[in-house]
Amino acid sequence: MKTGNLETLIFKTRILRLLVTLLALAFTSACSDPQGGGHDASAGVAASPTAVSSSNTYGDEGIGFRKETLFNEQGVEPPVATFTTVAPGSSQNLERAFSTAPPQIPHSTEGLLPIKTDSNSCIACHLPAVAAALKATSVPDSHMRDGGLSNARFSCSQCHVPQANVELVVDNNF
Ligand code: HEC
Ligand code: HEC
Repeated sequence: MKTGNLETLIFKTRILRLLVTLLALAFTSACSDPQGGGHDASAGVAASPTAVSSSNTYGDEGIGFRKETLFNEQGVEPPVATFTTVAPGSSQNLERAFSTAPPQIPHSTEGLLPIKTDSNSCIACHLPAVAAALKATSVPDSHMRDGGLSNARFSCSQCHVPQANVELVVDNNF
């Protein structure tokens, strides 16, 4: 049968590919291991002069971002992020990440989130009709449709988020 032949061919190709991969793996691990890791060091392999000196190596507590051993998950907690408690009206707007980035929420969101279809406190202060009077930035035109807030912009926290007070593990140079 034609399909049967095709299946056998695919199967054979896969076995062949697997064999080639295994061979390549065996070859690379045998050749590219200057420190003889995995082999018995006393097996006559002289330490290569280019071997990485121990001062340039990382222990298993230095490899990961969390600076804990990678071999134990017990009691390892991610850093706790805190957020500003400054109420709306008393905070300072934050610098934008880039010119068209949604600005971050500079004030506390305590009691304002989550946004629900029947309760969205953000619009009580940020719609164009009220924003100026409350010294809040009005939502821009792009958020409006047919004279009202566009439904696509209803869920503010989908794009606008508060900034967590955490130490950056890696600096952002975007
Ligand atoms: C009680 C009024 C009030 C409420 C409710 C409120 N805000 Fe604000 N918001 C402000 C004011 C006022 C500012 C200006 C900074 C300040 O004075 O704290 C501001 C600033 C912001 C900014 C920064 C704007 C910029 O130009 O950088 C964003 C984003 C924002 N709010 C989003 C939200 C979101 C999202 C919600 C709902 C979770 C919300 N706000 C709820 C009053 C409010
Ligand atoms: C789909 C993503 C999205 C949603 C949802 C959204 N925004 Fe925005 N918002 C943006 C982006 C992007 C900008 C920046 C636009 C720009 O500067 O051209 C922005 C800008 C703003 C600004 C700053 C305007 C200015 O002139 O500086 C305010 C305030 C704001 N949004 C409030 C809100 C509020 C309140 C809601 C919910 C009712 C909301 N946004 C929903 C993406 C979003």
